[in-house]
Amino acid sequence: MKRISWTEFTNLTVSDRIPHLGKENDPAEPFHVLYAQQFSRPVLDELCLLADHIRKLHKTKEGADFLRARLSHRTAMNLFAQPSTRTWMSFQLAEQNLGMPTSDIRDVSTSSQAKGETLQNSIRTFSSYVDLIVMRHPDRGAAELAAYEMNMADRRIPVFNGGSGQDQHPTQALLDIYTLQKSLGEIDGKKIAMVGDLMRGRTVRSLSYLMKNYKGVEIYYVAPERLRIGDDIKEFLKRQHIRYTESDNLEAIIPIVDAVYMTRIQWEWDKAAGATTQDAKYDPRFVFKKEYLGRMKQKSCLLHPLPKINEIDSELDYVEDARVVYWRQERNGMWIRAALIARVFDVDKEIMAHAAE
Ligand code: CP
Repeated sequence: MKRISWTEFTNLTVSDRIPHLGKENDPAEPFHVLYAQQFSRPVLDELCLLADHIRKLHKTKEGADFLRARLSHRTAMNLFAQPSTRTWMSFQLAEQNLGMPTSDIRDVSTSSQAKGETLQNSIRTFSSYVDLIVMRHPDRGAAELAAYEMNMADRRIPVFNGGSGQDQHPTQALLDIYTLQKSLGEIDGKKIAMVGDLMRGRTVRSLSYLMKNYKGVEIYYVAPERLRIGDDIKEFLKRQHIRYTESDNLEAIIPIVDAVYMTRIQWEWDKAAGATTQDAKYDPRFVFKKEYLGRMKQKSCLLHPLPKINEIDSELDYVEDARVVYWRQERNGMWIRAALIARVFDVDKEIMAHAAE
């Protein structure tokens, strides 16, 4: 791995950074996972297939024992400097299902960062003990700093971005793709509505980037005026020739699209200005009402990265309808994250071979 300075690294475009995030012997293959743009169509397809096999193997004791023996000699660290329920839990269980003992820091005030230790020194310290770091951080660029630190260290271990500021959440986008594919059969040619806080929602940003891998996709961004999708994403879509429309009329879009991806208002970014959960309550025009389900296409799906507040009618939580997939979507996160870890640690082929037996 060519060593470059932090300034040189941060001056690179995301495309030019990607080879620095790859495996030593194959720079195009993700090692550190920071950006959705790192994933190609073949890699996405293989990860989805691997996740299916892991899920099936895990149903039997023999299969679960086989999986647990794959990485029982490796360890993982989950550093979550921001609140999380499902990313943290699904990563922890993905690691454990592959046999990895895990360590967790969920409150950095209990770590030596509270004494003034830099993030770089903390990361270097974790890498003395573990073989994988998964991190969520409120600051844009924190995951890059950690991955860069690992590139400069003798003991280079992978860093996975479990959510960085308002920027990206690449492994959420992987589970969203996995869920879309399982629900719709294929993603090529599909119309997808992304609804809610599109300005600060990192899941929408990462999912939009992944759409470069699918032919003929059309995106409908539905948001209140002050929370519209960023210009950088729109520029990206234009460069990739991906069609998109902006709208503030969710009701009109429901019958047209194949998938509705709801998101919540991220009020926590306005905390300094005195915002509370009350400020997350939606304008009713952006709430998915129960009756909308009946207006969706027969083969379509309603997703949400969760957590949610009131942007989906809570009665839908209990509806038995194959189109309501957000609970399955969060479970899918555990399988696709296990597939990602297996691929980065090169045990994917042996899992595929065992599953085929
Ligand atoms: N979707 C997601 O990132 O959820 P958590 O914040 O609970 O991890």
